[in-house]
Amino acid sequence: MRTVAATRYVLPLREGGSMPGLVEATDDGLYVVKFRGAGQGPKALVAEVIAGELARALGLPVPEQVLVDVDVALGNAEPDPEIQDLIAASGGLNVGLDFLPGSLAFDEAAAARLDPALAADVVWLDALVMNVDRTPRNPNLLVWHGNLWLIDHGAALYVQHGDDFPATATRRFAAIRDHVLLPHAGSIADADARLAPRALAAVDDVVGLVPEDWIGDPDPYRAWLRERLSGSREFAEEAEDARAAA
Ligand SMILES: Nc1ncnc2c1ncn2[C@@H]1O[C@H](COP(=O)(O)OP(=O)(O)O)[C@@H](O)[C@H]1O
Ligand SMILES: [Mg+2]
Repeated sequence: MRTVAATRYVLPLREGGSMPGLVEATDDGLYVVKFRGAGQGPKALVAEVIAGELARALGLPVPEQVLVDVDVALGNAEPDPEIQDLIAASGGLNVGLDFLPGSLAFDEAAAARLDPALAADVVWLDALVMNVDRTPRNPNLLVWHGNLWLIDHGAALYVQHGDDFPATATRRFAAIRDHVLLPHAGSIADADARLAPRALAAVDDVVGLVPEDWIGDPDPYRAWLRERLSGSREFAEEAEDARAAA
């Protein structure tokens, strides 16, 4: 991942709870930045990087992610005290997603055009990383120039917040039945056969992208993903069952 420095806080994008902001950077790019000082803390940024970069390694469409270096002085020109506090608490590295200008919200028309194999791949990824934020009410999918893009992986790997994180690697993920793409997905079993070997091969590199400052010890993340991707992969069977029932 490239690292850029933030030069201007443009505006807040208040949709979910993470208070992302549109930020301009030294490369003149615009990024949707998730701040490490936001309520969810740096682990939400760990999830963004791991789930987003795993998706990319599987060939799924995710805008470029960059590390965004924030100088707390960036908040001085900001009139909103809530945003001032957020920036003050976010000095150093944050994560930014390349801004897709003019992108549209995902809707039924976009769903109808979707390749069933792509939809199945997205369902499989979200079952792997336990992403609860891909529901009809909150799809976190954008349509840009007619194509699907995946955004917002901050709620994935939510089990990382618990004390029993290592033990959750083989856990089922019942929330997959609420996935927005489940009714449009082709065979999840086929997606599993396509993607599991590629995901396993990408684990080390993807986890290695996360700044140490956020992740602390990366080994539990590598071990969790390896264990989840090896063996019987019940999460994929469960997603396939949910698709059959949908
Ligand atoms: N890369 C992007 N390009 C264009 N718009 C985006 C992008 N990322 C996020 N957005 C917009 O900002 C909203 C909030 O971003 P999101 O990452 O979903 O954070 P959260 O849901 O935690 O507030 C999205 O629903 C979408 O409308
Ligand atoms: Mg969102």
